[in-house]
Amino acid sequence: MTADPTTSPDQWTIRRVLDWTKAYLAKCGSDSPRLDAEILLAHARGCPRIQLYTNFDEVLSNEVRGRMRELVNRRAQHEPVAFLVGHREFFSLDFEVSRDVLVPRPETEILVMESLEAIKGNSTATVLDLGTGSGCIAVAVAVNAPTASVTGIDLSDAALAVARRNAERHKVAERVTFLHGDLFEPLPLPSLEQGGFDVIVSNPPYVATSDAATLPPDVLRHEPENALFAGADGLDIIRRIVENSPRFLNPGGTLLIEFSPEQAERISGLLNERGSFDEVTILRDLSQNPRVVRAVKRHEG
Ligand SMILES: C[S@@+](CC[C@H](N)C(=O)[O-])C[C@H]1O[C@@H](n2cnc3c(N)ncnc32)[C@H](O)[C@@H]1O
Repeated sequence: MTADPTTSPDQWTIRRVLDWTKAYLAKCGSDSPRLDAEILLAHARGCPRIQLYTNFDEVLSNEVRGRMRELVNRRAQHEPVAFLVGHREFFSLDFEVSRDVLVPRPETEILVMESLEAIKGNSTATVLDLGTGSGCIAVAVAVNAPTASVTGIDLSDAALAVARRNAERHKVAERVTFLHGDLFEPLPLPSLEQGGFDVIVSNPPYVATSDAATLPPDVLRHEPENALFAGADGLDIIRRIVENSPRFLNPGGTLLIEFSPEQAERISGLLNERGSFDEVTILRDLSQNPRVVRAVKRHEG
């Protein structure tokens, strides 16, 4: 059996530690063991990942090995890498994350791209992000649409504290307002003609409670329950967003919602039945799974 480089007195170089950790984490069930090993070792060594490659033959100090041992043990217990290192890249920006927020996912970047497309050329655009969590969508939109005003709402005060720090980190705090509450509840009631927002975007909780056992342990054991589950069919929050968003959208405004691939048909049905939207389009993620719905509010109602 290969020795554990985090405890062995042998000369363990960066290369050997990465190789050993990759094999160990693969055995423990990680689906990205090499990437995990690199991110954790860069964190333990206090350097950017690229520096591991330029120092492959460096022998690690006892302190770095000690830090790496703890991180690898926790990763082996399925703690998400982003929680172990405290940050995660999303839309080419670095976001603080903690156990109070969902770890931003690559598929959610579609919501940012579509929001930006919907407000292209609009210098006074207003965007509402429901269930903002780490603030990744709200902040990424604000950074890439430098005159837009963005509002992010979440039920979790702890998540909002992380979101506010992310807005400050990316220097958009004066254009992003974070409000605490249940979906639309913290907003002033809109006028009949103008809903107030050009875009309403949401990556809401959408896992059916009965699907809990199918979630990977990284997610089920470590990510916040109120970021994941939404009733028996996973649609409790989405139904409320579809019902209420026409009131808060400007005429011609765009609604964007992320969902789980098997929900696509029911969500199109809900939007069509609501009767306020002209175009209802399902968009696919990079794996070609249906992932986001885009609906445009009808001008006359
Ligand atoms: C799936 S997470 C998405 C977080 C972030 N927007 C992202 O894409 O990474 C859903 C978020 O919705 C929040 N949430 C759940 N129910 C809510 C409600 N009724 N009103 C407002 N926020 C809610 C949770 O606290 C969580 O932060």
